[in-house]
Amino acid sequence: MANVDLAFKEDGPGAGPAVVLVHGFPFDGRMWLPTAKVLGAAGYHVIVPDLRGHGKSPVGEGAATMEAMADDVAGLLDKLAIRRCVLVGFSMGGYAALQVAHRHRERLSALGLVDTRAEADSEEAKAGRRTTAAAIREKGMQHLVDTMLPKVTGPATKAKKPEVVEFLTRMVLENSTDGAVAALAGMGKRPDMRGKLSGMGLPVFVAVGEDDVITPPDAGSRMAHAFAMSSYELIPGAGHVSPLEQPEKFHKVLLEWLGAVSPVRRS
Ligand code: MLT
Repeated sequence: MANVDLAFKEDGPGAGPAVVLVHGFPFDGRMWLPTAKVLGAAGYHVIVPDLRGHGKSPVGEGAATMEAMADDVAGLLDKLAIRRCVLVGFSMGGYAALQVAHRHRERLSALGLVDTRAEADSEEAKAGRRTTAAAIREKGMQHLVDTMLPKVTGPATKAKKPEVVEFLTRMVLENSTDGAVAALAGMGKRPDMRGKLSGMGLPVFVAVGEDDVITPPDAGSRMAHAFAMSSYELIPGAGHVSPLEQPEKFHKVLLEWLGAVSPVRRS
């Protein structure tokens, strides 16, 4: 499948260690911009792509498979002449990041997996994605705002941070139905990666919101245990979108891990 030329944003000094932040569904790179700012200020060269069919990136042909998304990210690294990076993927971005680790292992120095899982979809989950895709075609992205978004944030965020829910709602509504339908088909086809994790030979960071009901903590901790070199963080007070729901806690643990696996060299 032909690569798609991804839209992207950057933060931080070009000479810093490269960190690529990959968003989830049905969001775009904007979900990572607060994190990009924090990492950029700490001296990292941060690259935030919009995956195919999301944000400002074209959708490409057919299902947006995790393999195709991974190849797009590798193509972006080529374009930016970045030989190796730390790749951090959130949820669907984590599924794609696992494919980068599998298909383009030489491009990674470390891997961050945030509110995501290594398992493939069950038959029931695949059928659910087909139903969702049909409903999106009929009703547009409002369908995801009505059905998915209530499950995305945790109780603490709903009670105390309405601005996070508003931001996510706006982002969903501004994303395209074609992109969402292609991504649903792609996620439904994704392979089970559990048997591949221990052989990846990468330092891995796994973080998951304590109240995440979409990719729950037990899936995250099982995945973390399957890697040979992993660090596991449970983020209290967060649902599925821990980087936006508990940014201070999330950024603290992410920066600590980055400092260990890919430190910024000060001259
Ligand atoms: C995401 O947040 O990227 C999606 O909820 C992942 C999924 O639907 O499996």
